[in-house]
Formats: sequence, C-alpha cells, structure tokens
Amino acid sequence: MDREPILEIKGLRTSFFTDDGEVPAVDDVSLYVHEGEMLGIVGESGCGKSVTSLSIMGLIPSPPGKIVDGDILYQGNNIVNLPEKKMRAIRGNDIAMIFQEPMTSLNPLFSIGNQLIEAIRTHQNVSKKAAWDKSVEMLKLVGLPRAEELMDDYPHQLSGGMRQRVMIAMAMICEPSVLIADEPTTALDVTIQKQILQLMKELNQKLNTAIIMITHDLGVVAEVCDRVVVMYSGKIVETADIHTLYKDPKHPYTKGLLASIPDLRKKSEKLYSIPGNVPKPGSITEGCRFAPRCEMAFERCFQEDPALYPCSSDEHEVRCFLHAPEEVKP
Ligand SMILES: Nc1ncnc2c1ncn2[C@@H]1O[C@H](COP(=O)(O)OP(=O)(O)OP(=O)(O)O)[C@@H](O)[C@H]1O
Ligand code: SF4
Ligand SMILES: [Mg+2]
Repeated sequence: MDREPILEIKGLRTSFFTDDGEVPAVDDVSLYVHEGEMLGIVGESGCGKSVTSLSIMGLIPSPPGKIVDGDILYQGNNIVNLPEKKMRAIRGNDIAMIFQEPMTSLNPLFSIGNQLIEAIRTHQNVSKKAAWDKSVEMLKLVGLPRAEELMDDYPHQLSGGMRQRVMIAMAMICEPSVLIADEPTTALDVTIQKQILQLMKELNQKLNTAIIMITHDLGVVAEVCDRVVVMYSGKIVETADIHTLYKDPKHPYTKGLLASIPDLRKKSEKLYSIPGNVPKPGSITEGCRFAPRCEMAFERCFQEDPALYPCSSDEHEVRCFLHAPEEVKP
C-alpha cells in the first residue's frame, strides 16, 4: 500500500524509571493505521498495550515514564515531545481515546450533556445551542434512545453498556481521524459487547475514522479488525491481516491466544490458557522473551533475541526463530 498512513509509530520505546531500574514497557514498536482502517493490538495483561496508546496521546505520566526513542507520526508530522499546548489541540480533536475504565473518564458530578458540550467547545468555537444539537445528534448516532432526556442524566444513572456508548459519543464528537479504544468492551456482558463492537465498526465505516482497538481477546479483534498486531512483553511478536493471522498463525504465542478464544459450540471443553505469566518488562534480558513459556523453545531461543522476520505472505511478520530464514531447512 503506498498511500500514507494517518498514524504511524516507528521504533517507539517507552520506559518507566523506577527504584528497581528502567522498565522498558514498550520496546521498539512500529505500527501504522490507514484512514478508515481498523487495527487490533492484542496481548495479555502487562504486555504494553495501554502504554503504547498513552504514548500516542502524549499522556505518559512523567516521571516515572518517558518516551526514550522513536517517532509517532500523525499525518506525517512527528508528535513526540510536542509542546503540551499543541498536543492538547490534537488530543480529542484529531486523535481521541476511549480509556480502559469508563467511570474514570466520565465525571460523576456533571451531566452527560454538560460533558459532551464541554468536549466540543474545548476544540471548536461554536455556540452552546450548536454544541447541544451536535451532542444530541451524536448520542443518537451511537444508538442511545431518548437522546434529549439523556443529556440531563448523570453517569451513575446509566447502565454499563449505555455509559460505554456515551464514552464513544464523547470520543467521536469532534470527528477525530484516529480513535484509540483501550479494552472498550471488557467490562460488558457478551451481548452488549457484540453490540458495542458492531457500533464501532459502523462508525469506522460511516465516518472513515481509523480505529485502533486494544484488547486481550483475539475473538474481539476477529469480529471487527482488518489487521492485527500481537504484543508480548513490550514487543510486537506477530503482525498480519486478520485472515492470515487466523488461517496461518506463526508465533507460538499467537497460536496460544487463538486456542484460548472461548468457543460457544464446545461449552463442555475446558478452555486452553497459556501456562505461566507475562514476564515483567526488562526481567528477561537474554533470549526470546516467550522462551520460558514456549513449548517449541530450543537452545538458540535462550541465547539470542529473535528479530521480526517477514513471512511469505504480504506484510506478515513474526518474531520467532522457527521462522528465521537461516533456521528454515531447505
Ligand atoms: N506508572 C507505571 N510505573 C511503572 N511501570 C509501569 C507504569 N505503567 C505501566 N508500567 C509497566 O508497563 C507494563 C505495560 O503496562 P500496560 O498498562 O501497557 O499493559 P497492558 O498491556 O495495557 O495490560 P492490561 O491488559 O492489564 O491493561 C507493565 O508491565 C508495567 O510493568
Ligand atoms: S523464538 Fe523460540 S522460544 Fe521464542 S517463540 Fe520461537 S520457538 Fe518459542
Ligand atoms: Mg491496558
């Protein structure tokens, strides 16, 4: 694809400097998303998904955190270390985010309408009446019933699913080019989860918004995403378009994640889960970070860190020696 991505990350490294030393939470991550595309970022807890998205938003708490290397290009311009005033103009207006915990981003003290109007007027010089109308329109667009009355409601009066729709409305109200959704459906039950994912797909198609969907669940990604990045312990371990990833996963970690997707047809079978835990970033300094949990590990895996190797199909890459050109036997 030769058109320019709307957002591109190149060699991003974000670390936290703690009493125990440097924690490399995101370690040389490169990815991109095009206008109108939906990219999934997948991995277990602690693998660096939220730190990646907070880096994009310029919201890494500093200290202890810092972007130590890499570029984040929005429409071709680097936004790393942009002065806060300029970043504030982009945040919410060009790149918006739905945060992992909905109650922390909706203010319990203000009505829904108040918060939506404020979100618009932070970025746009419009009258209160115009902002009100736009807010009602947005609540309708995200499928909320009785939108006008909802404007006067407070967050605690809504169900979890409704609150999540309000969060989406809030994030989309300035019609951003990029929306980052960090685990937008985790707290919801399965039926509501499906509805919210469907809604995000509709908005993505209707408004051409690029969406980065962050989740620990490959099943969620399968429903809506075009491409996937799989992260493990701060690094990308596999990336591919959604069909390739499902049909032909290469990395043992991706295979493990796929085997752990709940399959409703086989209710009686115990769900697979990858044994062990994600190591704390920086705790594995030698070899492949997945080696202690990998059933396929061999000697080299404990000595060297694998690179991201290209696979035969277009844009499919995998960080595993089993797919290193020099290991693949003729
Ligand atoms: N404020 C902080 N101080 C120190 N280390 C941090 C801080 N925030 C994150 N980290 C480190 O960064 C790593 C990645 O965290 P991150 O929140 O990105 O994980 P995640 O993939 O979003 O996980 P989850 O699925 O649980 O949300 C964590 O393992 C943690 O060690
Ligand atoms: S490089 Fe080795 S340890 Fe790492 S995923 Fe591949 S086989 Fe497993
Ligand atoms: Mg997270």
